[in-house]
Amino acid sequence: MNNDIQEVLFDQANIHDAAVRLGQQITQDYAGEKPVVLSVLKGAYLWTADLLREVDLYIDLEFINVSSYHGGVKSTDEITLVTDIRSDIMGRQVIILEDIVDTGQSLLFMKALLAKRGAASIKVATLLDKKAGRKVDIEADYVGFNVRNEFVVGYGLDYKELYRNLPYVGILKKEVYTK
Ligand code: PRP
Ligand code: MN
Ligand code: MG
Repeated sequence: MNNDIQEVLFDQANIHDAAVRLGQQITQDYAGEKPVVLSVLKGAYLWTADLLREVDLYIDLEFINVSSYHGGVKSTDEITLVTDIRSDIMGRQVIILEDIVDTGQSLLFMKALLAKRGAASIKVATLLDKKAGRKVDIEADYVGFNVRNEFVVGYGLDYKELYRNLPYVGILKKEVYTK
């Protein structure tokens, strides 16, 4: 599996530093509040675990499963709500946790959904921000790293459901998906 990676961009130490930095910021920004943290499966599973252990707040942790890539290397325009949350978010402060914001369409979809359900505020904490991929005008509030316009996998991010268990984020060799 590691042999399929062309270049490691962010290793475990880099990601830990980002989790500490963003975790402290979120702890300060939401002091005295009890936000709902909405982790976006599957990609955000590791980031959720690592970031939230650096957050010193009472939180409600919820999971939503939204899919736009459908396993491929390009984000599609079709967003599927695979699994919804069950709790009521009316009047709550929501923090969405994403592994990556690329076109921004998944985020737009979720923000619209949460706004419709009456969330009091919605912010986004993403490990990676691929600004060059943006198709809609939307930004994350907390960003671990900006990432260049390459197809990256690992630390939650997949290609055809594989590579999510790599401990780092790296660029997938082109030969893996162009054969
Ligand atoms: C990926 C990624 C983000 C989203 C970002 O999820 O984890 O959730 O796409 O892309 P966008 O900004 O272009 O919408 P994916 O659809 O691959 O589902 P997964 O998390 O289950 O892999
Ligand atoms: Mn995802
Ligand atoms: Mg995916």
